[in-house]
Amino acid sequence: MKALYMTMAVLAVSLAACGHKEGPKGSVSFAAQVKPILDRNCVECHKAGGEGYLKSGLRLDSYQALMAGTKFGPVIVPGSSISSSLYLLVAGKADPSIRMPHNKAALPEDTVEMIKRWIDQGAQNN
Ligand code: HEC
Repeated sequence: MKALYMTMAVLAVSLAACGHKEGPKGSVSFAAQVKPILDRNCVECHKAGGEGYLKSGLRLDSYQALMAGTKFGPVIVPGSSISSSLYLLVAGKADPSIRMPHNKAALPEDTVEMIKRWIDQGAQNN
């Protein structure tokens, strides 16, 4: 019995150390979950000829364009949402004047959280 408790304690500690509080929800899919958000909220400005593209060089109409970033560099750092300007902008953690989507209501919190998880999981084209 004592050994069982010990095993359970070790298990609990290693689960906690893992840091993924939502393990059961599984991985976020770019095609099924992230792309539809970009299409709905961002692409109108971040496509060839759009206002966001003209100002920053960022297109958000494909995975490749998203990962290519702005004319100044990447907006996604795979595995690190807090280093990814795209996340910081949609989460409102950057200067409020450039919160994205520009001049519109902020994305819902669970949507922002999903983008964060996708980046932290490696920002894959999955
Ligand atoms: C109404 C138009 C519009 C919409 C919608 C929009 N953007 Fe933008 N976006 C802009 C403009 C304009 C800029 C350039 C901002 C500037 O430099 O003043 C920009 C710049 C950016 C940048 C680059 C900022 C930098 O580092 O220079 C990112 C990242 C970005 N947008 C992400 C997004 C995301 C993600 C969405 C959707 C959730 C979105 N945008 C929706 C207009 C828009």
